Amino acid sequence: MSYIASYPKERIIELFAQHVSSGKAEFFAQAGIDFVVGKREGIYLWDLDGKRLINCHCNGGVFNLGHRNTRILAALERALQQYDIGNHHLLSAPRALLAARLAAISPGDIKRVVFGVSGGEAIDLALKLARAHTHRPGIISALGGYHGHTGLALAAGDESYRKPFEPLSPGFTQVPFGDLQALEEAMSEATAAVIFETIPATLGIAIPPEDFFAGVRQLCDRWGAVMIMDEVQTGLARCGAVWGIDTYGVIPDMIVTAKGLSGGIYPISATLYSDRLDAFLHDNPFIHISTFGGAEAGCCVALEVLDILEEPGFLEHVRAMADLFKEGFANLLEKHPSVLVEARQRGLMMGLKLADPYYGPWMTAAGFQAGLLAIYANHDPSVLQILPPLIIQEGEIQQVLAILDGMLGGLETAFS
Ligand SMILES: Cc1ncc(COP(=O)(O)O)c(C=O)c1O
Repeated sequence: MSYIASYPKERIIELFAQHVSSGKAEFFAQAGIDFVVGKREGIYLWDLDGKRLINCHCNGGVFNLGHRNTRILAALERALQQYDIGNHHLLSAPRALLAARLAAISPGDIKRVVFGVSGGEAIDLALKLARAHTHRPGIISALGGYHGHTGLALAAGDESYRKPFEPLSPGFTQVPFGDLQALEEAMSEATAAVIFETIPATLGIAIPPEDFFAGVRQLCDRWGAVMIMDEVQTGLARCGAVWGIDTYGVIPDMIVTAKGLSGGIYPISATLYSDRLDAFLHDNPFIHISTFGGAEAGCCVALEVLDILEEPGFLEHVRAMADLFKEGFANLLEKHPSVLVEARQRGLMMGLKLADPYYGPWMTAAGFQAGLLAIYANHDPSVLQILPPLIIQEGEIQQVLAILDGMLGGLETAFS
Protein backbone atom coordinates (compact mmCIF):
# COMPACT_ATOMS: atom_id res chain seq x y z
CA MET A 1 0.00 0.00 0.00
CA SER A 2 2.87 2.35 0.76
CA TYR A 3 3.64 2.46 -2.97
CA ILE A 4 0.56 4.70 -3.47
CA ALA A 5 2.46 7.55 -1.80
CA SER A 6 5.31 7.24 -4.29
CA TYR A 7 3.13 8.36 -7.24
CA PRO A 8 3.53 12.03 -8.21
CA LYS A 9 0.36 14.09 -8.06
CA GLU A 10 0.30 14.76 -11.82
CA ARG A 11 0.34 11.02 -12.53
CA ILE A 12 -2.53 10.43 -10.08
CA ILE A 13 -4.59 13.12 -11.83
CA GLU A 14 -3.79 11.49 -15.18
CA LEU A 15 -4.77 7.99 -13.99
CA PHE A 16 -7.94 9.36 -12.39
CA ALA A 17 -8.92 11.03 -15.67
CA GLN A 18 -8.14 7.89 -17.67
CA HIS A 19 -9.78 5.30 -15.43
CA VAL A 20 -12.11 6.86 -12.84
CA SER A 21 -13.85 9.96 -14.17
CA SER A 22 -12.66 11.98 -17.14
CA GLY A 23 -15.54 14.41 -16.52
CA LYS A 24 -14.62 15.11 -12.91
CA ALA A 25 -10.97 15.55 -13.79
CA GLU A 26 -11.94 18.04 -16.52
CA PHE A 27 -14.33 19.89 -14.20
CA PHE A 28 -11.67 20.45 -11.54
CA ALA A 29 -9.02 21.34 -14.11
CA GLN A 30 -11.33 23.99 -15.60
CA ALA A 31 -12.05 25.36 -12.12
CA GLY A 32 -8.30 25.66 -11.52
CA ILE A 33 -8.46 23.20 -8.60
CA ASP A 34 -5.78 20.51 -8.54
CA PHE A 35 -6.43 19.25 -5.01
CA VAL A 36 -5.85 15.52 -4.47
CA VAL A 37 -6.58 14.36 -0.95
CA GLY A 38 -3.47 13.14 0.84
CA LYS A 39 -2.94 13.13 4.59
CA ARG A 40 -5.95 13.69 6.82
CA GLU A 41 -6.19 14.13 10.58
CA GLY A 42 -8.77 15.70 12.90
CA ILE A 43 -10.47 18.66 11.21
CA TYR A 44 -7.79 18.90 8.50
CA LEU A 45 -7.19 17.52 5.02
CA TRP A 46 -3.93 17.96 3.10
CA ASP A 47 -3.32 18.05 -0.62
CA LEU A 48 -0.68 15.59 -1.90
CA ASP A 49 1.53 18.69 -2.24
CA GLY A 50 1.03 19.53 1.44
CA LYS A 51 -1.52 22.33 1.24
CA ARG A 52 -3.89 22.17 4.23
CA LEU A 53 -7.67 22.70 4.29
CA ILE A 54 -10.06 22.82 7.24
CA ASN A 55 -12.81 20.38 6.38
CA CYS A 56 -16.16 22.15 6.57
CA HIS A 57 -17.77 19.77 4.11
CA CYS A 58 -17.19 16.51 5.97
CA ASN A 59 -18.98 14.58 3.22
CA GLY A 60 -22.25 15.72 4.78
CA GLY A 61 -21.40 14.35 8.22
CA VAL A 62 -19.20 11.33 7.53
CA PHE A 63 -16.41 13.10 9.41
CA ASN A 64 -18.50 14.30 12.36
CA LEU A 65 -15.76 12.96 14.65
CA GLY A 66 -12.94 14.31 12.50
CA HIS A 67 -10.62 12.37 10.24
CA ARG A 68 -9.08 9.18 11.54
CA ASN A 69 -10.43 9.69 15.04
CA THR A 70 -8.08 7.67 17.26
CA ARG A 71 -10.91 6.08 19.24
CA ILE A 72 -12.60 4.93 16.04
CA LEU A 73 -9.34 3.53 14.67
CA ALA A 74 -8.75 1.65 17.92
CA ALA A 75 -12.32 0.29 17.87
CA LEU A 76 -11.78 -1.03 14.34
CA GLU A 77 -8.46 -2.61 15.31
CA ARG A 78 -10.11 -4.31 18.30
CA ALA A 79 -13.01 -5.47 16.12
CA LEU A 80 -10.63 -7.00 13.58
CA GLN A 81 -9.10 -9.21 16.28
CA GLN A 82 -12.42 -11.04 16.41
CA TYR A 83 -14.80 -10.07 13.61
CA ASP A 84 -15.06 -9.66 9.86
CA ILE A 85 -18.08 -8.89 7.63
CA GLY A 86 -20.16 -11.62 9.26
CA ASN A 87 -22.99 -13.45 7.53
CA HIS A 88 -26.08 -11.40 6.73
CA HIS A 89 -28.39 -14.45 6.93
CA LEU A 90 -27.39 -15.42 10.45
CA LEU A 91 -28.03 -13.96 13.89
CA SER A 92 -25.25 -11.65 15.02
CA ALA A 93 -24.09 -10.22 18.34
CA PRO A 94 -22.64 -6.89 17.01
CA ARG A 95 -25.76 -6.27 14.92
CA ALA A 96 -28.07 -7.05 17.85
CA LEU A 97 -26.12 -4.78 20.22
CA LEU A 98 -25.84 -1.88 17.78
CA ALA A 99 -29.56 -2.10 16.96
CA ALA A 100 -30.42 -2.03 20.67
CA ARG A 101 -28.23 1.05 21.16
CA LEU A 102 -29.81 2.84 18.18
CA ALA A 103 -33.28 1.99 19.51
CA ALA A 104 -32.34 3.38 22.91
CA ILE A 105 -31.44 6.80 21.47
CA SER A 106 -34.45 7.01 19.17
CA PRO A 107 -37.77 8.64 20.02
CA GLY A 108 -41.15 6.99 20.61
CA ASP A 109 -41.49 3.35 19.70
CA ILE A 110 -38.73 3.38 17.08
CA LYS A 111 -37.19 0.12 18.24
CA ARG A 112 -36.32 -1.80 15.10
CA VAL A 113 -33.39 -1.57 12.73
CA VAL A 114 -32.42 -2.81 9.29
CA PHE A 115 -28.76 -2.27 8.44
CA GLY A 116 -27.36 -1.26 5.08
CA VAL A 117 -24.14 0.03 3.58
CA SER A 118 -25.17 3.38 2.13
CA GLY A 119 -27.73 6.08 2.81
CA GLY A 120 -29.51 5.48 -0.49
CA GLU A 121 -29.94 1.81 0.29
CA ALA A 122 -31.39 2.63 3.72
CA ILE A 123 -33.83 5.12 2.14
CA ASP A 124 -34.91 2.48 -0.39
CA LEU A 125 -35.68 0.07 2.43
CA ALA A 126 -37.66 2.75 4.31
CA LEU A 127 -39.80 3.40 1.22
CA LYS A 128 -40.23 -0.30 0.47
CA LEU A 129 -41.35 -0.96 4.02
CA ALA A 130 -43.79 1.98 3.95
CA ARG A 131 -45.37 0.65 0.75
CA ALA A 132 -45.52 -2.92 2.02
CA HIS A 133 -46.97 -1.83 5.36
CA THR A 134 -49.66 0.45 3.95
CA HIS A 135 -50.35 -1.47 0.70
CA ARG A 136 -50.26 1.92 -1.01
CA PRO A 137 -48.00 3.28 -3.78
CA GLY A 138 -47.72 7.00 -3.05
CA ILE A 139 -44.52 8.63 -1.82
CA ILE A 140 -44.36 12.40 -1.24
CA SER A 141 -41.02 14.19 -0.94
CA ALA A 142 -39.57 17.68 -1.33
CA LEU A 143 -38.85 19.43 -4.60
CA GLY A 144 -35.08 19.78 -4.78
CA GLY A 145 -34.57 17.23 -2.02
CA TYR A 146 -31.80 14.66 -1.96
CA HIS A 147 -31.99 11.07 -0.74
CA GLY A 148 -29.28 9.31 -2.74
CA HIS A 149 -28.93 7.66 -6.13
CA THR A 150 -30.38 4.19 -5.66
CA GLY A 151 -33.77 3.27 -7.16
CA LEU A 152 -36.48 4.60 -4.86
CA ALA A 153 -34.22 7.19 -3.23
CA LEU A 154 -33.47 8.57 -6.68
CA ALA A 155 -37.18 8.69 -7.54
CA ALA A 156 -37.78 10.74 -4.37
CA GLY A 157 -35.01 13.23 -5.17
CA ASP A 158 -34.50 16.18 -7.49
CA GLU A 159 -35.41 15.90 -11.15
CA SER A 160 -31.91 16.86 -12.28
CA TYR A 161 -30.49 13.54 -11.06
CA ARG A 162 -33.30 11.24 -12.14
CA LYS A 163 -34.54 12.57 -15.50
CA PRO A 164 -31.99 10.68 -17.67
CA PHE A 165 -32.87 7.37 -16.00
CA GLU A 166 -36.63 7.44 -16.42
CA PRO A 167 -38.90 5.56 -16.27
CA LEU A 168 -38.36 5.17 -12.54
CA SER A 169 -40.81 3.77 -10.03
CA PRO A 170 -44.24 5.45 -10.39
CA GLY A 171 -46.15 6.90 -7.44
CA PHE A 172 -43.76 9.75 -6.52
CA THR A 173 -45.01 13.31 -5.96
CA GLN A 174 -43.02 16.33 -4.87
CA VAL A 175 -44.05 19.44 -2.97
CA PRO A 176 -42.15 22.59 -1.97
CA PHE A 177 -40.25 21.95 1.26
CA GLY A 178 -41.80 23.62 4.31
CA ASP A 179 -45.18 24.17 2.62
CA LEU A 180 -47.84 22.42 4.70
CA GLN A 181 -50.69 23.49 2.47
CA ALA A 182 -49.03 21.97 -0.60
CA LEU A 183 -48.45 18.77 1.37
CA GLU A 184 -52.05 18.68 2.50
CA GLU A 185 -53.22 19.04 -1.10
CA ALA A 186 -50.90 16.26 -2.28
CA MET A 187 -51.90 13.71 0.34
CA SER A 188 -54.62 11.12 -0.17
CA GLU A 189 -55.66 7.58 0.67
CA ALA A 190 -52.97 6.45 -1.78
CA THR A 191 -50.13 8.03 0.23
CA ALA A 192 -47.84 5.40 1.74
CA ALA A 193 -45.20 7.77 3.06
CA VAL A 194 -43.99 11.31 3.37
CA ILE A 195 -40.21 11.60 3.39
CA PHE A 196 -38.20 14.73 4.12
CA GLU A 197 -34.66 15.55 5.11
CA THR A 198 -34.97 17.36 8.42
CA ILE A 199 -32.89 20.17 6.93
CA PRO A 200 -32.26 19.64 3.22
CA ALA A 201 -28.58 20.36 2.70
CA THR A 202 -28.54 20.19 -1.07
CA LEU A 203 -31.48 22.59 -1.20
CA GLY A 204 -29.31 25.14 0.63
CA ILE A 205 -29.60 24.23 4.35
CA ALA A 206 -33.29 25.10 4.09
CA ILE A 207 -34.64 25.60 7.62
CA PRO A 208 -38.38 24.85 7.69
CA PRO A 209 -40.92 26.86 9.74
CA GLU A 210 -40.83 25.73 13.41
CA ASP A 211 -44.27 24.11 13.22
CA PHE A 212 -43.70 22.36 9.88
CA PHE A 213 -42.88 18.88 11.14
CA ALA A 214 -45.68 18.93 13.73
CA GLY A 215 -47.99 19.63 10.79
CA VAL A 216 -46.44 16.81 8.75
CA ARG A 217 -47.01 14.47 11.70
CA GLN A 218 -50.68 15.48 11.89
CA LEU A 219 -51.22 14.99 8.16
CA CYS A 220 -49.54 11.58 8.23
CA ASP A 221 -51.75 10.58 11.16
CA ARG A 222 -54.85 11.86 9.38
CA TRP A 223 -54.13 9.84 6.22
CA GLY A 224 -52.49 6.82 7.84
CA ALA A 225 -49.21 7.52 6.03
CA VAL A 226 -45.73 6.73 7.32
CA MET A 227 -43.59 9.73 8.32
CA ILE A 228 -39.96 9.15 7.34
CA MET A 229 -37.12 11.46 8.34
CA ASP A 230 -33.96 11.34 6.29
CA GLU A 231 -31.37 12.08 8.97
CA VAL A 232 -28.41 11.01 6.88
CA GLN A 233 -26.85 14.47 7.33
CA THR A 234 -28.78 15.96 10.26
CA GLY A 235 -28.59 12.98 12.60
CA LEU A 236 -26.03 11.86 15.17
CA ALA A 237 -25.69 15.23 16.93
CA ARG A 238 -25.19 17.50 13.89
CA CYS A 239 -28.11 19.72 14.97
CA GLY A 240 -27.21 19.70 18.68
CA ALA A 241 -29.54 16.81 19.57
CA VAL A 242 -29.18 13.12 18.71
CA TRP A 243 -31.60 13.50 15.79
CA GLY A 244 -32.38 16.75 14.02
CA ILE A 245 -36.09 15.96 14.31
CA ASP A 246 -35.70 15.87 18.14
CA THR A 247 -35.09 19.62 17.97
CA TYR A 248 -38.62 20.00 16.55
CA GLY A 249 -40.19 17.85 19.30
CA VAL A 250 -41.79 15.52 16.75
CA ILE A 251 -41.71 11.71 16.68
CA PRO A 252 -41.61 10.22 13.16
CA ASP A 253 -42.27 6.58 12.23
CA MET A 254 -38.87 6.02 10.67
CA ILE A 255 -35.44 7.58 10.84
CA VAL A 256 -32.72 6.89 8.29
CA THR A 257 -29.12 7.30 9.35
CA ALA A 258 -25.83 6.66 7.52
CA LYS A 259 -22.77 8.87 6.94
CA GLY A 260 -21.66 9.70 10.52
CA LEU A 261 -22.48 6.21 11.79
CA SER A 262 -19.37 5.09 9.91
CA GLY A 263 -17.05 7.11 12.14
CA GLY A 264 -15.48 8.12 8.82
CA ILE A 265 -13.93 4.66 8.67
CA TYR A 266 -16.35 1.82 7.97
CA PRO A 267 -19.44 2.31 5.74
CA ILE A 268 -22.70 1.45 7.47
CA SER A 269 -26.28 2.75 7.38
CA ALA A 270 -29.47 1.96 9.23
CA THR A 271 -33.21 2.31 8.75
CA LEU A 272 -34.81 2.70 12.16
CA TYR A 273 -38.53 2.08 12.31
CA SER A 274 -41.42 1.87 14.69
CA ASP A 275 -42.44 -1.41 16.29
CA ARG A 276 -45.89 -0.80 14.79
CA LEU A 277 -44.45 -1.27 11.28
CA ASP A 278 -42.76 -4.58 12.01
CA ALA A 279 -45.40 -7.09 10.89
CA PHE A 280 -44.28 -7.13 7.24
CA LEU A 281 -40.60 -7.81 7.91
CA HIS A 282 -41.53 -10.24 10.66
CA ASP A 283 -43.50 -12.28 8.15
CA ASN A 284 -40.91 -11.82 5.36
CA PRO A 285 -37.52 -11.72 7.10
CA PHE A 286 -35.52 -12.59 3.95
CA ILE A 287 -37.28 -10.24 1.54
CA HIS A 288 -34.65 -7.49 1.86
CA ILE A 289 -31.03 -8.56 1.79
CA SER A 290 -27.77 -6.62 1.89
CA THR A 291 -24.63 -8.77 1.93
CA PHE A 292 -22.47 -6.08 3.48
CA GLY A 293 -25.24 -4.29 5.40
CA GLY A 294 -24.42 -4.19 9.09
CA ALA A 295 -21.01 -5.79 8.58
CA GLU A 296 -19.90 -6.88 12.03
CA ALA A 297 -16.64 -4.93 12.03
CA GLY A 298 -18.66 -1.87 10.99
CA CYS A 299 -21.13 -2.44 13.83
CA CYS A 300 -18.22 -2.32 16.30
CA VAL A 301 -17.09 0.99 14.79
CA ALA A 302 -20.65 2.37 14.97
CA LEU A 303 -20.92 1.30 18.62
CA GLU A 304 -17.85 3.42 19.35
CA VAL A 305 -19.46 6.34 17.46
CA LEU A 306 -22.48 6.03 19.77
CA ASP A 307 -20.23 5.76 22.85
CA ILE A 308 -18.65 9.10 21.92
CA LEU A 309 -22.00 10.70 21.07
CA GLU A 310 -23.50 9.66 24.40
CA GLU A 311 -20.60 10.86 26.51
CA PRO A 312 -21.56 13.63 28.94
CA GLY A 313 -20.85 17.00 27.41
CA PHE A 314 -20.77 15.92 23.75
CA LEU A 315 -24.09 17.46 22.72
CA GLU A 316 -23.36 20.49 24.92
CA HIS A 317 -20.07 20.93 23.05
CA VAL A 318 -21.90 20.90 19.70
CA ARG A 319 -24.36 23.51 20.95
CA ALA A 320 -21.61 25.70 22.41
CA MET A 321 -19.63 25.60 19.15
CA ALA A 322 -22.84 26.41 17.25
CA ASP A 323 -23.26 29.52 19.41
CA LEU A 324 -19.73 30.65 18.52
CA PHE A 325 -20.50 30.27 14.83
CA LYS A 326 -23.75 32.15 15.31
CA GLU A 327 -21.89 35.10 16.83
CA GLY A 328 -19.24 34.99 14.11
CA PHE A 329 -21.84 34.84 11.34
CA ALA A 330 -23.62 37.88 12.82
CA ASN A 331 -20.34 39.81 12.52
CA LEU A 332 -19.82 38.63 8.95
CA LEU A 333 -23.37 39.65 8.02
CA GLU A 334 -22.70 43.12 9.37
CA LYS A 335 -19.35 43.39 7.64
CA HIS A 336 -20.27 42.02 4.20
CA PRO A 337 -23.92 43.00 3.58
CA SER A 338 -23.52 43.35 -0.19
CA VAL A 339 -22.63 39.68 -0.68
CA LEU A 340 -23.83 37.81 2.42
CA VAL A 341 -27.58 37.90 2.97
CA GLU A 342 -28.39 35.25 5.58
CA ALA A 343 -26.80 32.71 7.92
CA ARG A 344 -28.82 29.49 8.15
CA GLN A 345 -28.15 27.30 11.11
CA ARG A 346 -29.45 24.53 13.33
CA GLY A 347 -26.61 23.42 15.58
CA LEU A 348 -23.61 22.79 13.35
CA MET A 349 -25.80 22.24 10.26
CA MET A 350 -25.01 25.60 8.69
CA GLY A 351 -25.11 27.52 5.44
CA LEU A 352 -24.30 31.02 4.27
CA LYS A 353 -26.84 32.41 1.83
CA LEU A 354 -25.08 34.67 -0.65
CA ALA A 355 -26.55 37.38 -2.84
CA ASP A 356 -26.13 35.54 -6.15
CA PRO A 357 -26.09 31.93 -7.41
CA TYR A 358 -22.61 32.56 -8.92
CA TYR A 359 -21.20 33.34 -5.49
CA GLY A 360 -21.45 29.81 -4.01
CA PRO A 361 -19.21 28.19 -6.65
CA TRP A 362 -16.86 31.19 -6.44
CA MET A 363 -16.55 30.77 -2.67
CA THR A 364 -15.96 27.02 -3.01
CA ALA A 365 -13.11 27.63 -5.45
CA ALA A 366 -11.72 30.44 -3.29
CA GLY A 367 -11.79 28.09 -0.29
CA PHE A 368 -9.23 25.81 -1.92
CA GLN A 369 -6.86 28.77 -2.09
CA ALA A 370 -7.72 30.14 1.35
CA GLY A 371 -7.55 26.85 3.27
CA LEU A 372 -11.20 25.88 3.65
CA LEU A 373 -13.18 23.00 2.16
CA ALA A 374 -16.78 24.22 1.91
CA ILE A 375 -19.04 23.27 -0.97
CA TYR A 376 -22.02 25.16 -2.36
CA ALA A 377 -25.47 23.56 -2.32
CA ASN A 378 -26.15 21.88 -5.65
CA HIS A 379 -29.84 22.78 -5.79
CA ASP A 380 -29.29 26.34 -4.58
CA PRO A 381 -25.76 27.43 -5.50
CA SER A 382 -26.23 30.75 -3.71
CA VAL A 383 -25.72 28.83 -0.44
CA LEU A 384 -22.31 27.76 0.84
CA GLN A 385 -22.79 24.73 3.10
CA ILE A 386 -20.73 24.78 6.30
CA LEU A 387 -20.58 21.43 8.09
CA PRO A 388 -17.45 21.33 10.27
CA PRO A 389 -16.53 18.23 12.28
CA LEU A 390 -18.54 18.25 15.52
CA ILE A 391 -15.30 17.94 17.49
CA ILE A 392 -14.13 21.36 16.27
CA GLN A 393 -12.76 23.61 19.02
CA GLU A 394 -13.13 27.33 19.71
CA GLY A 395 -9.73 28.37 18.29
CA GLU A 396 -10.40 26.41 15.12
CA ILE A 397 -13.77 28.13 14.71
CA GLN A 398 -12.00 31.48 14.88
CA GLN A 399 -9.72 30.25 12.06
CA VAL A 400 -12.75 29.23 9.96
CA LEU A 401 -14.43 32.59 10.56
CA ALA A 402 -11.26 34.49 9.68
CA ILE A 403 -10.90 32.53 6.44
CA LEU A 404 -14.56 33.15 5.58
CA ASP A 405 -14.09 36.85 6.34
CA GLY A 406 -11.19 37.00 3.88
CA MET A 407 -13.09 35.04 1.24
CA LEU A 408 -16.16 37.30 1.54
CA GLY A 409 -13.87 40.33 1.20
CA GLY A 410 -12.41 38.75 -1.95
CA LEU A 411 -15.92 38.10 -3.26
CA GLU A 412 -16.84 41.77 -2.76
CA THR A 413 -13.77 42.87 -4.67
CA ALA A 414 -14.22 40.32 -7.46
CA PHE A 415 -17.81 41.37 -8.17
CA SER A 416 -17.65 45.10 -7.34
C1 LIG B 1 -29.78 13.63 3.04
C2 LIG B 1 -29.14 12.47 2.33
N1 LIG B 1 -29.84 11.34 2.17
C3 LIG B 1 -29.31 10.27 1.55
C4 LIG B 1 -28.04 10.31 1.03
C5 LIG B 1 -27.49 9.13 0.32
O1 LIG B 1 -26.43 8.54 1.02
P1 LIG B 1 -25.36 7.64 0.25
O2 LIG B 1 -24.54 8.55 -0.62
O3 LIG B 1 -24.56 7.02 1.36
O4 LIG B 1 -26.14 6.64 -0.55
C6 LIG B 1 -27.28 11.47 1.18
C7 LIG B 1 -25.92 11.55 0.61
O5 LIG B 1 -25.32 12.58 0.45
C8 LIG B 1 -27.84 12.58 1.83
O6 LIG B 1 -27.18 13.73 1.98
